[in-house]
Amino acid sequence: MTLEILANADRRQVVLVTGASVGLGLAIGHRLLEEQRRRRIHIVLTARESSLSRFGEQGIAQCDDVWIRPLDVTNADQRQSLVDEISSKLGGVDILINNAGVAYRSCVEHVTEPERLHQMNINFRSPIELTRCVLPGMRKKRCGKIINISSVGGMMAMPTMSVYSASKFALEGASEALYYEVKPWNVSVTLVQPGFMRSDAFEKVPYTMMGAEASANCDNDYHEHYHHMERFIAMAMNRALATPDSVAKKVLRVMRRKSPPLRVYGSVDAVMFSWMRRTMPSRAYNWLLYRNLPKVRQWGRR
Ligand SMILES: NC(=O)c1ccc[n+]([C@@H]2O[C@H](COP(=O)([O-])OP(=O)(O)OC[C@H]3O[C@@H](n4cnc5c(N)ncnc54)[C@H](OP(=O)(O)O)[C@@H]3O)[C@@H](O)[C@H]2O)c1
Repeated sequence: MTLEILANADRRQVVLVTGASVGLGLAIGHRLLEEQRRRRIHIVLTARESSLSRFGEQGIAQCDDVWIRPLDVTNADQRQSLVDEISSKLGGVDILINNAGVAYRSCVEHVTEPERLHQMNINFRSPIELTRCVLPGMRKKRCGKIINISSVGGMMAMPTMSVYSASKFALEGASEALYYEVKPWNVSVTLVQPGFMRSDAFEKVPYTMMGAEASANCDNDYHEHYHHMERFIAMAMNRALATPDSVAKKVLRVMRRKSPPLRVYGSVDAVMFSWMRRTMPSRAYNWLLYRNLPKVRQWGRR
């Protein structure tokens, strides 16, 4: 027992990040590399096989205490074999950062069942499944941190972002339940909620098949919804104060805290939307948001 305690005291904390080859995940990776100068941590950065080469391009190379591993979060075998490898060689995952995610753009009428399941798979089912893989080890050690990257889209929904919001609402609900369930083992669960981040992520937002058609076709009933929301989101992201790096800093702060809270705002707009949601009567809140949608009077005119 004493030897086990000594071995545990000597081991580096292991931090596993998903979707780390670009955007917020990459910014977290860079911050973790900086953190290594201050304390001994072992970093495991993961990305889909096809994205692994980006690490080299970003000057991140594999070494003893930085592992780079392929992980498609939707692949159950890859999830389990990575967690097994970390458990056998490094003694398990101490901090899991579920960052990988996609945001389909589509109105509810334009999402087919397979597309809906695909979105839910990446943003909700897979992070929860990966969490299930690491939890037995964390409970055994009686410590651990699960950090789930949520979104303002997980506290409020915008038109044309229905499945994205549904997936983040689901992640929020499951994480909130988990927060209470694993607290007795000293395992913390935190949702980091960024709003718009200044990045070019909006340029690679995938559309559902019908959403893409409606967005491109001026005669489609929903064309104005897509057209104005695309421009609004691009402008909001271009002008956003938050950047992947500023959000990454908040993630690192959560990592360092002894007892982090369930929810952490990732940006100023997240604070504002949460405050509006909590304090305004819901009818007034929905009315205000509707009236402020870009050029909403032109929507549905066809
Ligand atoms: N951008 C924003 O304004 C914003 C706002 C709020 C919340 N968020 C959240 O922040 C997180 C990161 O977003 P981001 O803006 O950095 O997006 P991003 O630049 O598009 O990066 C998304 C990452 O997820 C990875 N990914 C997608 N599907 C995957 C899969 N099946 N398996 C493994 N990795 C997968 C991507 O890998 P590939 O490169 O291989 O595709 C990429 O590394 C997401 O959870 C997102 O919902 C973003």
